[in-house]
Amino acid sequence: MSSRALVTGATAGIGKSFAFALAARSDDLVLVARDAARLESIAAELRAAHGVEVDVLPADLTIEEDLARVARAVASTERPVDLLVNNAGSSLAGWFGTTEITDEDRQLDLLVRAPMHLMDAAIKAMSLRGHGAVVNVTSVAAFTPRGAYSAHKIWLTNLSQWADWQYAAQGVRVMALAPGFTRTEFHQRGNMDVSGVPRWMWLDADRLVADALRDLDRGKSLSIPSKRYKVLSLLARHAPTALVARAAKRGR
Ligand SMILES: NC(=O)c1ccc[n+]([C@@H]2O[C@H](COP(=O)([O-])OP(=O)(O)OC[C@H]3O[C@@H](n4cnc5c(N)ncnc54)[C@H](OP(=O)(O)O)[C@@H]3O)[C@@H](O)[C@H]2O)c1
Repeated sequence: MSSRALVTGATAGIGKSFAFALAARSDDLVLVARDAARLESIAAELRAAHGVEVDVLPADLTIEEDLARVARAVASTERPVDLLVNNAGSSLAGWFGTTEITDEDRQLDLLVRAPMHLMDAAIKAMSLRGHGAVVNVTSVAAFTPRGAYSAHKIWLTNLSQWADWQYAAQGVRVMALAPGFTRTEFHQRGNMDVSGVPRWMWLDADRLVADALRDLDRGKSLSIPSKRYKVLSLLARHAPTALVARAAKRGR
């Protein structure tokens, strides 16, 4: 029997890599993002390349009705979702305290409220069926003090790790995926200057997703792809705050 995965932010970067990796292992897909034309074009590519069933669900996850529509798809009993990938995200140019508070509200909705609602729907539906998994894309920024973005990401990391333990007995897995700098559209969209980030710090999205899916299969509740980011995250969690904050100021 085939599995169905719902991926948010599936039109670019890490979400698109998830969509292709999951289709390659014959999962049917539900793809979510705002740009409907781009969703349709990726869906057509996936159907042609892998012969899987692909539904598109255009939605802005910061809009209440759109989020509720996606949550209903996650909770569906007719077309059950076996894997939820909470990936959609963006960043704001500027540090908290200098940005517009309405923009910060939207970021909170996208990075915290949306994954919380979708994870709630997933856990309830999956525990009734006795199986299912959630991958929450967070960031290694979660382990550093660097404004609202890292605070949102540690919130999601913490909840994921607890939920993995709490719902294991009901057959539900939850894993936080904490990437380092990954080549996607993220930095350009957020008007971030990442020219100072050394080449060795950049990850490839396809490789990152392959590592993450392997970690999920191995039962991990936290996946930090690549040795270099495993080491950096460990240092960040134990070094003095001022030192980590200064080092982390370079990007997301
Ligand atoms: N790239 C990195 O270095 C990096 C590092 C650590 C963590 N992350 C995290 O990885 C995740 C994916 O980022 P990425 O690097 O792949 O970014 P990306 O290439 O910019 O892709 C972002 C995706 O999210 C969708 N999206 C953005 N706002 C949305 C909204 N309001 N509603 C629905 N969908 C929305 C975009 O599609 P539409 O514009 O069509 O909506 C797009 O598909 C994010 O959670 C990010 O925080 C990224």
